[in-house]
Amino acid sequence: MDPARQHIIDRLEQSIGLNIETVSSSTFERAIRHRMEALGVDDMAGYARLLAASGPELDRLIEEVVIPETWFFRHQEPFDILVDQVRTAKAQARPLPFRILSLPCSTGEEPYSAVMALLLAGIPPVHFEVTGVDISKRALEIADRGIYGDNSFRSRDLTFRDVFFRRTDNGYLLEEQVRSLVRFCRGNIVDTTFTASLGVFNVIFCRNILIYLSRDAQEKVLANLFHLLVPGGTLFTGHAEANLFLNTPFTRSPDTGSFAFLRPASEKPSLVGFPGQQDDDRTPAPAAALKGWPGPARKPIPEPGPDTATEPGGSDDDTFAQVMHLADSGRLAEAAAHCQIHMARTGDPSARWYYLLGVIRDSQGRTGEAVSLLRKALYLDPQHEESLVLLALLAEQSGDHDRARHYRRRARRILEQG
Ligand SMILES: C[S@@+](CC[C@H](N)C(=O)[O-])C[C@H]1O[C@@H](n2cnc3c(N)ncnc32)[C@H](O)[C@@H]1O
Repeated sequence: MDPARQHIIDRLEQSIGLNIETVSSSTFERAIRHRMEALGVDDMAGYARLLAASGPELDRLIEEVVIPETWFFRHQEPFDILVDQVRTAKAQARPLPFRILSLPCSTGEEPYSAVMALLLAGIPPVHFEVTGVDISKRALEIADRGIYGDNSFRSRDLTFRDVFFRRTDNGYLLEEQVRSLVRFCRGNIVDTTFTASLGVFNVIFCRNILIYLSRDAQEKVLANLFHLLVPGGTLFTGHAEANLFLNTPFTRSPDTGSFAFLRPASEKPSLVGFPGQQDDDRTPAPAAALKGWPGPARKPIPEPGPDTATEPGGSDDDTFAQVMHLADSGRLAEAAAHCQIHMARTGDPSARWYYLLGVIRDSQGRTGEAVSLLRKALYLDPQHEESLVLLALLAEQSGDHDRARHYRRRARRILEQG
């Protein structure tokens, strides 16, 4: 490879942990060309030298390669668990405010969803604090402005939009009260000095970033996240990212979703894994006065079907949401049984059912089965991005880097096509 190009790739990897294989070559070429034109530099070696010497230029290049894809209430389950946890903290007279971190938060939909879920549940703002962090200045500016287009509203239930947004000529404007309850800051998840400066949190949303990082960066980030959590705290990850947390000091809890991991409340001295940081006695911010706590006002989560594997009722969408909910709640065997029954009944299940069963099998440690289910999903729908991302991760973990690269490129191409 051209040494200048390699230098640019190394700089991105070292600074933000980016695995260049998750960036399609056309995006990468476009990004560099764009930056070279903007600077009036006409050879790549010149640009690589400039990049080596300039922090601001690195920031501009980062803006060109990151993927800010996100939407409000991207999977409902973590937000329901969050509400339950804040209520439990209050009921057990644990220190409040409850501290919540969204890292990366992209354009703000995730931390704002946390705030809206808590407000909808009748939890007063003095009982929680939400922080959103992202590397992208551009994304944070959008978060700050709080105006969103249709793409940010992809969840099935859009009741929250009627409650908290006002329609304007430029899009949906999020009301000031919600905006004022998230503190945004720019930062790098790979940078341990930065993450240590944030304090500790009861709940962390860290979804849909690990899949874009190199193996070294993933390891560093897992350690950073571990130290960002209070002992007993919960971390939510992306569906395709859950298996990166297996065989680490994080544990799965039967009380939280299957894409939620805990920092154990008490760590045995023999625990191997992340290097110690002197944070174990750090606690969240001091308790606030617990006044005016209104009773629960949360909307009930649609209950999945009975405990036995009879199929949940409703349309295909409803059934899918219910089975996904079961899987998210950690009831993996039950969810798998529902998937199989549904797939057998339909006779012609769509790709998303194979994907869902694949995710469940992966969570159960049945990797071989997961891979063949995900391949079936792709056979039915070659554009099924989630299957591609998970297949890439599984291929990477089995040491098949070429195959991982192939899946990543395909996934990236789909994302770029929008
Ligand atoms: C796909 S979005 C995920 C947003 C949200 N968590 C979600 O799941 O909807 C990925 C975000 O990661 C951010 N990012 C990439 N590398 C980062 C890093 N090293 N530190 C912090 N943020 C980073 C990008 O700017 C982008 O906004």
